[in-house]
Amino acid sequence: MQKPKYKRVVLKLSGEALAGDKGYGIEHTTISSIARQIIEIVGKGTQVAIVVGGGNIWRGVAGSQRGMDRATADYMGMLATVINALALQDALENIGMDTRVMSAIEMKEICEPYIRRRAIRHLEKGRVVIFAAGTGNPYFSTDTTAALRSAEIEAEVILMAKKVDGVYDSDPINNPDAIKFNYLDYIEVLNKGLAVMDSTAASLCMDNKIPIIVFNLTEEGNILKAVMGENIGTYVGR
Ligand code: GTP
Repeated sequence: MQKPKYKRVVLKLSGEALAGDKGYGIEHTTISSIARQIIEIVGKGTQVAIVVGGGNIWRGVAGSQRGMDRATADYMGMLATVINALALQDALENIGMDTRVMSAIEMKEICEPYIRRRAIRHLEKGRVVIFAAGTGNPYFSTDTTAALRSAEIEAEVILMAKKVDGVYDSDPINNPDAIKFNYLDYIEVLNKGLAVMDSTAASLCMDNKIPIIVFNLTEEGNILKAVMGENIGTYVGR
């Protein structure tokens, strides 16, 4: 059996990724497909931690733009990620995968608190760990959570799941002539303001030398390809 390139990864899923075509909420067939793809890579021996966003339920930034207190709006977003984390846990456990949800904000009736060494232990035991509630702080995104947790658990790569097949010089949905990058240096992402992740998250990846693979999640089998080291999407590194 061909060995995976990466032994430990952080998979970053946006909240919208769980909504399918609906754009809102959680779509059963979509989340089931994601769960199947995750099981596939765990079966190859890769340890998987997931950071999930909450934009399918609530966006903190949008709330604050409408005049809401930014910190309150962000806390609501963190709660949205907990809902998504539990939905993912349910989808994974339905097909026989052991999982643990760990929240950055303690809510111990619902899930475990985030404890770094315990998260690593779960991964070593072959459990999928789902990180919920972002970093637990307002003003930080779940992209930053993915970068922070990757550094903490020493993940080798962040798999950034998107609806497009990589990073382009302009929005490929609006511009048919947009050019796709196969490789990018962190500094190019920052200088050009490319839509990989926000700048706080990208800086954290750069400082800690965590590579990022941006790929299209809607094509089934892509998570496996990324983990096996196939050249898909855009690789951000140095
Ligand atoms: P090992 O010690 O490696 O066997 O890990 P474990 O997670 O199986 O052990 P533990 O006895 O800590 O947890 C058993 C179950 O309780 C698991 O499903 C955990 O997710 C859950 N659990 C552990 N701590 C908490 C908590 O603080 N809150 C909630 N809601 N569940 C917890």
